[in-house]
Amino acid sequence: MTVIEFIRDKLMLANKAYSDKAPDHFDYWEQHIRLVVKEALILADTYGADKETVELGALLHDIALVSEAGTRGEHHINGKMIADKLLSEYGYPDDRKGKVLRCVLHHRNSKYAENIEELCVADADIISHYDNIPMCFGAAFKYHKISTGSIEEWIRYFEHDYNDLSERTKHTFKPRYDAIMDVLFGALL
Ligand SMILES: [Fe+2]
Ligand SMILES: [Fe+2]
Repeated sequence: MTVIEFIRDKLMLANKAYSDKAPDHFDYWEQHIRLVVKEALILADTYGADKETVELGALLHDIALVSEAGTRGEHHINGKMIADKLLSEYGYPDDRKGKVLRCVLHHRNSKYAENIEELCVADADIISHYDNIPMCFGAAFKYHKISTGSIEEWIRYFEHDYNDLSERTKHTFKPRYDAIMDVLFGALL
């Protein structure tokens, strides 16, 4: 079994347990993580990053949320600890493991990324929101209490997310971002 298969199996188990238990049966894999993996691998191709590190980082970046370990605010720190345990259980070499763990630790904003692999995971996390607009709205209601009445608040929410992208990804993503913003809010302004 490859390390990707091993980690994917572990993630799926945690994902099923979360989805079965959650009142809204939220499926992290289906709604978010599979999209982060897809976008992270596209960026890894574009930027010439190490694909295994990027894929493992994307699979594990929100493992603390899926496993309900600790607070949402510290999910990057708790995620790193869980990822460390899982990759050690597989017997993944320490130097490669360290690279994946730093992808998890630094995923919450591209400004924290210290290398191209970390940047791919952080940027993919943001782009994945635009792949799944209904989830994006759901999260805005659930975690940020954004009201349906305030168009400015919604635009700020999407802009804030876009601004967390790295400059190079912002540049290539801009046409799609502009199109999405136009479809969502163009007629309201
Ligand atoms: Fe996250
Ligand atoms: Fe995420």
